[in-house]
Amino acid sequence: MTTSSSEHGVSLGMPEPPAPAYPDDVRERLAADAREIVARYPDSRSALLPLLHLVQSEEGHVTRTGMRFCAQTLGLTTAEVTAVATFYTMYRRRPSGDYQVGVCTNTLCAVMGGDAIFESLQEHLGVGNGETTEDGKVTLEHIECNAACDFAPVVMVNWEFFDNQTPGSARDLVDDLRAGRDVRPTRGARMCTFKETARILAGFPDERPGAVEEGGSAGPASLVGLRLAKGETAPARVVHPRGGPQDPPRETAHEPSPAEHRSSHDAPQETSASDPAHPAGPTAEEGE
Ligand code: FES
Repeated sequence: MTTSSSEHGVSLGMPEPPAPAYPDDVRERLAADAREIVARYPDSRSALLPLLHLVQSEEGHVTRTGMRFCAQTLGLTTAEVTAVATFYTMYRRRPSGDYQVGVCTNTLCAVMGGDAIFESLQEHLGVGNGETTEDGKVTLEHIECNAACDFAPVVMVNWEFFDNQTPGSARDLVDDLRAGRDVRPTRGARMCTFKETARILAGFPDERPGAVEEGGSAGPASLVGLRLAKGETAPARVVHPRGGPQDPPRETAHEPSPAEHRSSHDAPQETSASDPAHPAGPTAEEGE
Protein backbone atom coordinates (compact mmCIF):
# COMPACT_ATOMS: atom_id res chain seq x y z
CA MET A 1 0.00 0.00 0.00
CA THR A 2 1.36 3.42 -0.97
CA THR A 3 0.50 6.86 0.37
CA SER A 4 -1.55 9.33 -1.58
CA SER A 5 0.03 12.33 -3.25
CA SER A 6 -1.29 15.32 -5.12
CA GLU A 7 -0.86 16.01 -8.82
CA HIS A 8 2.29 17.94 -7.87
CA GLY A 9 3.78 15.05 -5.96
CA VAL A 10 3.07 16.41 -2.48
CA SER A 11 2.51 13.56 -0.06
CA LEU A 12 -0.86 13.69 1.67
CA GLY A 13 0.19 11.01 4.13
CA MET A 14 -2.86 8.76 3.72
CA PRO A 15 -2.58 5.05 2.93
CA GLU A 16 -3.81 4.35 -0.57
CA PRO A 17 -5.33 1.06 -1.75
CA PRO A 18 -3.59 -0.57 -4.72
CA ALA A 19 -4.93 0.32 -8.14
CA PRO A 20 -3.53 -0.33 -11.61
CA ALA A 21 -2.40 2.77 -13.47
CA TYR A 22 -4.20 4.05 -16.56
CA PRO A 23 -2.28 3.41 -19.79
CA ASP A 24 -0.27 6.53 -20.66
CA ASP A 25 -2.49 7.56 -23.58
CA VAL A 26 -5.66 7.24 -21.48
CA ARG A 27 -4.13 9.16 -18.60
CA GLU A 28 -3.00 11.99 -20.87
CA ARG A 29 -6.42 12.25 -22.50
CA LEU A 30 -8.21 12.24 -19.15
CA ALA A 31 -5.75 14.75 -17.70
CA ALA A 32 -6.51 17.18 -20.55
CA ASP A 33 -10.24 16.77 -19.99
CA ALA A 34 -9.78 17.15 -16.25
CA ARG A 35 -7.89 20.43 -16.66
CA GLU A 36 -10.82 21.76 -18.68
CA ILE A 37 -13.27 20.74 -15.95
CA VAL A 38 -11.19 22.06 -13.05
CA ALA A 39 -10.76 25.44 -14.77
CA ARG A 40 -14.51 26.02 -14.45
CA TYR A 41 -14.38 26.23 -10.67
CA PRO A 42 -12.77 28.78 -8.34
CA ASP A 43 -11.84 25.96 -5.96
CA SER A 44 -10.48 22.82 -7.62
CA ARG A 45 -12.07 20.40 -5.15
CA SER A 46 -15.49 21.59 -6.39
CA ALA A 47 -14.73 19.71 -9.60
CA LEU A 48 -14.90 16.32 -7.91
CA LEU A 49 -18.44 15.38 -9.02
CA PRO A 50 -17.86 16.05 -12.74
CA LEU A 51 -14.44 14.40 -12.51
CA LEU A 52 -16.07 11.25 -11.16
CA HIS A 53 -18.45 11.32 -14.13
CA LEU A 54 -15.40 11.73 -16.38
CA VAL A 55 -13.63 8.62 -15.07
CA GLN A 56 -16.95 6.78 -15.15
CA SER A 57 -17.25 7.64 -18.84
CA GLU A 58 -13.92 5.91 -19.40
CA GLU A 59 -14.59 2.55 -17.77
CA GLY A 60 -18.36 2.51 -17.26
CA HIS A 61 -17.99 2.62 -13.50
CA VAL A 62 -15.81 4.33 -10.93
CA THR A 63 -12.77 2.17 -10.34
CA ARG A 64 -10.00 2.55 -7.78
CA THR A 65 -7.84 3.78 -10.61
CA GLY A 66 -10.42 6.44 -11.42
CA MET A 67 -10.71 7.51 -7.80
CA ARG A 68 -6.95 7.77 -7.46
CA PHE A 69 -6.83 9.87 -10.63
CA CYS A 70 -9.46 12.23 -9.15
CA ALA A 71 -7.61 12.42 -5.84
CA GLN A 72 -4.27 13.20 -7.46
CA THR A 73 -5.81 15.73 -9.82
CA LEU A 74 -7.59 17.64 -7.05
CA GLY A 75 -5.12 17.23 -4.20
CA LEU A 76 -7.56 15.13 -2.18
CA THR A 77 -7.07 11.84 -0.41
CA THR A 78 -8.52 8.70 -1.96
CA ALA A 79 -10.56 8.36 1.25
CA GLU A 80 -12.22 11.71 0.53
CA VAL A 81 -12.92 10.74 -3.05
CA THR A 82 -14.24 7.34 -2.02
CA ALA A 83 -16.58 8.94 0.50
CA VAL A 84 -18.18 10.99 -2.28
CA ALA A 85 -18.22 8.23 -4.90
CA THR A 86 -19.94 5.81 -2.56
CA PHE A 87 -22.49 8.36 -1.33
CA TYR A 88 -24.12 9.22 -4.65
CA THR A 89 -25.96 6.45 -6.44
CA MET A 90 -25.21 7.95 -9.86
CA TYR A 91 -21.69 6.56 -9.52
CA ARG A 92 -21.48 2.84 -10.16
CA ARG A 93 -18.92 0.78 -8.30
CA ARG A 94 -18.90 -2.32 -10.48
CA PRO A 95 -19.05 -3.12 -14.20
CA SER A 96 -22.54 -2.76 -15.62
CA GLY A 97 -24.44 -2.69 -18.89
CA ASP A 98 -24.72 -0.11 -21.64
CA TYR A 99 -28.17 0.78 -20.38
CA GLN A 100 -28.95 1.20 -16.73
CA VAL A 101 -32.66 0.49 -16.43
CA GLY A 102 -33.94 1.84 -13.14
CA VAL A 103 -37.47 1.10 -12.03
CA CYS A 104 -38.82 3.49 -9.44
CA THR A 105 -40.23 1.39 -6.64
CA ASN A 106 -40.58 4.24 -4.19
CA THR A 107 -44.01 4.46 -2.60
CA LEU A 108 -46.08 6.25 -5.23
CA CYS A 109 -44.60 4.51 -8.25
CA ALA A 110 -44.75 1.18 -6.42
CA VAL A 111 -48.49 1.37 -5.81
CA MET A 112 -49.07 2.68 -9.34
CA GLY A 113 -47.37 -0.39 -10.83
CA GLY A 114 -43.62 0.02 -10.23
CA ASP A 115 -43.36 -3.18 -8.20
CA ALA A 116 -45.17 -5.12 -10.93
CA ILE A 117 -42.87 -3.63 -13.60
CA PHE A 118 -39.77 -4.58 -11.64
CA GLU A 119 -40.95 -8.16 -11.13
CA SER A 120 -41.87 -8.46 -14.79
CA LEU A 121 -38.45 -7.20 -15.93
CA GLN A 122 -36.66 -9.50 -13.52
CA GLU A 123 -38.44 -12.47 -15.04
CA HIS A 124 -38.17 -11.21 -18.62
CA LEU A 125 -34.44 -10.43 -18.43
CA GLY A 126 -33.49 -13.26 -16.08
CA VAL A 127 -31.54 -10.93 -13.77
CA GLY A 128 -32.02 -9.56 -10.29
CA ASN A 129 -31.48 -6.16 -8.77
CA GLY A 130 -28.10 -4.73 -9.78
CA GLU A 131 -27.42 -7.54 -12.23
CA THR A 132 -26.60 -7.28 -15.93
CA THR A 133 -27.91 -9.33 -18.84
CA GLU A 134 -25.45 -11.78 -20.42
CA ASP A 135 -25.12 -9.62 -23.55
CA GLY A 136 -23.87 -6.74 -21.38
CA LYS A 137 -26.66 -4.46 -22.55
CA VAL A 138 -29.00 -3.94 -19.61
CA THR A 139 -28.44 -3.55 -15.89
CA LEU A 140 -31.65 -3.67 -13.89
CA GLU A 141 -32.05 -1.92 -10.59
CA HIS A 142 -34.50 -0.44 -8.14
CA ILE A 143 -34.31 3.32 -7.95
CA GLU A 144 -35.72 5.75 -5.45
CA CYS A 145 -38.07 8.62 -6.24
CA ASN A 146 -36.82 10.69 -9.14
CA ALA A 147 -39.20 13.59 -8.59
CA ALA A 148 -41.40 12.52 -11.47
CA CYS A 149 -44.25 11.21 -9.35
CA ASP A 150 -46.79 12.95 -11.58
CA PHE A 151 -45.81 10.46 -14.29
CA ALA A 152 -45.83 7.35 -12.10
CA PRO A 153 -44.86 4.65 -12.57
CA VAL A 154 -41.56 5.85 -13.96
CA VAL A 155 -38.67 3.92 -15.48
CA MET A 156 -35.33 5.62 -16.12
CA VAL A 157 -32.73 4.53 -18.64
CA ASN A 158 -29.37 6.22 -18.18
CA TRP A 159 -31.25 8.95 -16.27
CA GLU A 160 -33.75 9.67 -19.06
CA PHE A 161 -37.43 9.42 -18.17
CA PHE A 162 -39.89 6.88 -19.50
CA ASP A 163 -43.19 8.01 -18.05
CA ASN A 164 -46.40 6.16 -17.23
CA GLN A 165 -44.95 2.74 -17.83
CA THR A 166 -46.59 -0.68 -17.59
CA PRO A 167 -45.03 -4.15 -17.42
CA GLY A 168 -45.69 -4.55 -21.15
CA SER A 169 -44.21 -1.22 -22.23
CA ALA A 170 -41.17 -1.77 -19.99
CA ARG A 171 -40.55 -5.20 -21.53
CA ASP A 172 -40.79 -3.65 -25.02
CA LEU A 173 -38.35 -0.96 -23.90
CA VAL A 174 -35.63 -3.36 -22.77
CA ASP A 175 -36.14 -5.51 -25.88
CA ASP A 176 -35.59 -2.43 -28.07
CA LEU A 177 -32.48 -1.46 -26.13
CA ARG A 178 -30.99 -4.94 -26.43
CA ALA A 179 -31.79 -5.10 -30.14
CA GLY A 180 -30.11 -1.74 -30.78
CA ARG A 181 -33.29 -0.09 -32.02
CA ASP A 182 -33.70 3.68 -31.83
CA VAL A 183 -35.20 4.39 -28.41
CA ARG A 184 -36.52 7.77 -27.35
CA PRO A 185 -37.45 8.74 -23.83
CA THR A 186 -40.70 10.52 -23.04
CA ARG A 187 -38.91 13.79 -22.38
CA GLY A 188 -35.42 14.11 -23.79
CA ALA A 189 -33.05 13.23 -26.59
CA ARG A 190 -32.70 9.71 -28.02
CA MET A 191 -30.80 7.26 -25.88
CA CYS A 192 -27.04 6.95 -25.77
CA THR A 193 -24.91 4.52 -23.78
CA PHE A 194 -24.11 4.88 -20.11
CA LYS A 195 -20.51 5.88 -20.89
CA GLU A 196 -21.68 8.55 -23.32
CA THR A 197 -24.19 9.80 -20.74
CA ALA A 198 -21.44 9.99 -18.13
CA ARG A 199 -19.30 12.18 -20.39
CA ILE A 200 -22.21 14.58 -20.92
CA LEU A 201 -22.75 14.69 -17.16
CA ALA A 202 -19.06 15.54 -16.77
CA GLY A 203 -19.89 18.74 -18.62
CA PHE A 204 -18.87 17.99 -22.18
CA PRO A 205 -21.17 18.75 -25.13
CA ASP A 206 -23.50 16.14 -26.53
CA GLU A 207 -21.81 15.58 -29.89
CA ARG A 208 -24.75 13.78 -31.52
CA PRO A 209 -26.24 15.87 -34.33
CA GLY A 210 -29.57 17.36 -33.29
CA ALA A 211 -29.54 15.79 -29.83
CA VAL A 212 -29.61 19.09 -27.94
CA GLU A 213 -32.66 20.25 -29.89
CA GLU A 214 -34.41 16.99 -29.00
CA GLY A 215 -34.27 17.86 -25.32
CA GLY A 216 -37.69 17.78 -23.73
CA SER A 217 -39.59 20.12 -21.49
CA ALA A 218 -41.93 19.66 -18.56
CA GLY A 219 -44.77 17.25 -19.24
CA PRO A 220 -48.45 18.23 -19.11
CA ALA A 221 -49.07 16.82 -15.64
CA SER A 222 -46.27 18.98 -14.21
CA LEU A 223 -47.70 22.09 -15.84
CA VAL A 224 -51.20 21.82 -14.37
CA GLY A 225 -50.19 23.66 -11.20
CA LEU A 226 -48.55 26.40 -13.23
CA ARG A 227 -51.71 26.88 -15.27
CA LEU A 228 -53.80 27.09 -12.13
CA ALA A 229 -51.40 29.64 -10.65
CA LYS A 230 -51.84 31.76 -13.77
CA GLY A 231 -55.60 31.71 -13.32
CA GLU A 232 -56.26 29.30 -16.16
CA THR A 233 -58.70 26.44 -15.87
CA ALA A 234 -57.07 23.09 -15.26
CA PRO A 235 -57.90 20.32 -17.72
CA ALA A 236 -60.45 17.79 -16.49
CA ARG A 237 -57.77 15.15 -16.49
CA VAL A 238 -54.24 14.69 -17.82
CA VAL A 239 -54.07 11.39 -19.64
CA HIS A 240 -50.83 9.81 -20.80
CA PRO A 241 -50.44 7.04 -23.34
CA ARG A 242 -49.23 3.92 -21.62
CA GLY A 243 -46.90 2.30 -24.07
CA GLY A 244 -46.92 -1.30 -25.14
CA PRO A 245 -49.29 -3.18 -27.35
CA GLN A 246 -49.99 -5.57 -24.49
CA ASP A 247 -51.40 -2.77 -22.43
CA PRO A 248 -54.82 -1.38 -23.25
CA PRO A 249 -55.10 2.43 -23.20
CA ARG A 250 -56.23 3.94 -19.95
CA GLU A 251 -59.76 5.06 -19.45
CA THR A 252 -60.23 8.67 -20.46
CA ALA A 253 -63.90 8.97 -19.62
CA HIS A 254 -65.67 10.97 -16.96
CA GLU A 255 -63.47 12.46 -14.27
CA PRO A 256 -65.29 12.19 -10.95
CA SER A 257 -65.77 15.33 -8.94
CA PRO A 258 -64.29 15.36 -5.42
CA ALA A 259 -67.76 14.61 -4.01
CA GLU A 260 -68.01 11.46 -6.14
CA HIS A 261 -64.48 10.36 -5.55
CA ARG A 262 -64.22 9.78 -1.87
CA SER A 263 -62.40 7.01 -0.15
CA SER A 264 -61.38 6.19 3.38
CA HIS A 265 -58.13 8.06 2.68
CA ASP A 266 -59.78 11.33 1.71
CA ALA A 267 -59.79 14.20 4.16
CA PRO A 268 -63.22 15.00 5.62
CA GLN A 269 -64.97 17.47 3.37
CA GLU A 270 -66.82 19.16 6.20
CA THR A 271 -64.40 21.42 7.92
CA SER A 272 -64.71 23.61 10.98
CA ALA A 273 -65.60 26.43 8.63
CA SER A 274 -68.45 24.57 6.92
CA ASP A 275 -69.73 22.32 9.69
CA PRO A 276 -72.10 24.17 12.08
CA ALA A 277 -71.82 21.36 14.61
CA HIS A 278 -68.11 22.04 14.96
CA PRO A 279 -67.64 25.78 14.54
CA ALA A 280 -64.24 27.34 14.22
CA GLY A 281 -62.91 29.25 17.17
CA PRO A 282 -60.59 28.98 20.12
CA THR A 283 -60.89 25.80 22.14
CA ALA A 284 -60.40 25.71 25.85
CA GLU A 285 -57.43 24.04 27.45
CA GLU A 286 -58.24 21.14 29.75
CA GLY A 287 -59.16 22.41 33.23
CA GLU A 288 -60.18 25.89 32.10
S1 FES B 1 -42.23 7.83 -6.42
FE1 FES B 1 -41.49 7.34 -8.42
S2 FES B 1 -40.87 9.28 -9.22
FE2 FES B 1 -41.60 9.75 -7.22
